[in-house]
Amino acid sequence: MQYRRLGRSGLRLSELSLGSWVTYHNQVDSAAAREMLAVAMDAGINFFDNAEAYAAGQSEVVMGEAFKALKWPRLNFVVSTKFFWGLSPRNDPRSGDAVNRRDTLNRKYLMQAIDGSLVRMQLDFIDLVYCHRPDPLTPIDETVHAMSDMITQGKALYWGTSEWSAAEIRAAWEIADRHHLHKPVVEQPQYNLFSRKRVEQEYARLYEDIGLGLTTWSPLASGLLTGKYRNGIPADSRGAMEGMGFLTKSLGDAAKGEAVAKFEAIAADLGCTVAQLAIAWAAKNPRVSSVITGASKLSQLQSNLGAVDVIAKLTTELVAALDAISVPLAA
Ligand SMILES: NC(=O)c1ccc[n+]([C@@H]2O[C@H](COP(=O)([O-])OP(=O)(O)OC[C@H]3O[C@@H](n4cnc5c(N)ncnc54)[C@H](OP(=O)(O)O)[C@@H]3O)[C@@H](O)[C@H]2O)c1
Repeated sequence: MQYRRLGRSGLRLSELSLGSWVTYHNQVDSAAAREMLAVAMDAGINFFDNAEAYAAGQSEVVMGEAFKALKWPRLNFVVSTKFFWGLSPRNDPRSGDAVNRRDTLNRKYLMQAIDGSLVRMQLDFIDLVYCHRPDPLTPIDETVHAMSDMITQGKALYWGTSEWSAAEIRAAWEIADRHHLHKPVVEQPQYNLFSRKRVEQEYARLYEDIGLGLTTWSPLASGLLTGKYRNGIPADSRGAMEGMGFLTKSLGDAAKGEAVAKFEAIAADLGCTVAQLAIAWAAKNPRVSSVITGASKLSQLQSNLGAVDVIAKLTTELVAALDAISVPLAA
């Protein structure tokens, strides 16, 4: 496992990391999480990604219980969480604070959200906190001050954004620069063989201009790049889970399925799985600080960790072959 600086910051993350979206609490309980985190750490992973919204806070609880049981020195791991959606029920008139605690990056919500995450994760501070989505209704200035204050108060160490536009990221950075506040150091976008434009085109100027780091999500496009959706949606997969209907179109896309078959042939020539190939491809981009992987089973994690050995095998010719298949289909 190699370690990379998170953009221009001094923080070094493992090139592969592990996240908990969909899985923790729903598919992975505390004992299984503990086992997976231990295997990840043994393989050199030092960064674990989470969010307040995952399983409505329960993903943070599961990860916090696992950290407690593992008793790792706090210096040895980096953990993140993200804020935006809040925990209040949507459209519930009894939830008097819903206006201030849902789909927002306002100061009131953010300053209370960090306290809730610290309690659920049983931690004194969180290394990386993200604004999980942009909030067009809150001035960016208000959000930047709140995120910077979380750091000044010692509740977080670094902050960043997730799925913000290049213009929004630059505006946040410039506000922080102008007011001598803690600047955003990282963006967390989707990045995989079917989702490339934001990382490769939209953010292109930000890497040098503001030293933006990237922790990228869904390297397997939610499992599509494992090949397991080529004959329909398996009953034990994410695609069959309640609430995941928004993935059906992409997972069943015939053109993407054909592309996956071509990626499988390239993977077979390399002696790896198509999932390892897809994860290694994302990690091959030097702008990426860490590729956040996901797994619902220990066996998936163990197999996916093999991607580390595939990164060096991705020659310029192989990357060009993958590009020829991927680029026409990529958003
Ligand atoms: N910032 C954001 O907005 C955002 C959004 C999404 C994710 N994320 C972060 O990024 C992390 C990774 O995203 P992701 O979970 O979507 O990653 P992914 O790698 O695209 O998908 C992971 C899922 O694919 C399936 N899978 C993985 N390896 C497999 C294998 N070898 N064989 C068969 N199936 C396999 C598993 O689902 P099943 O077994 O259930 O099919 C697993 O949970 C998340 O945990 C989260 O921390 C962030």
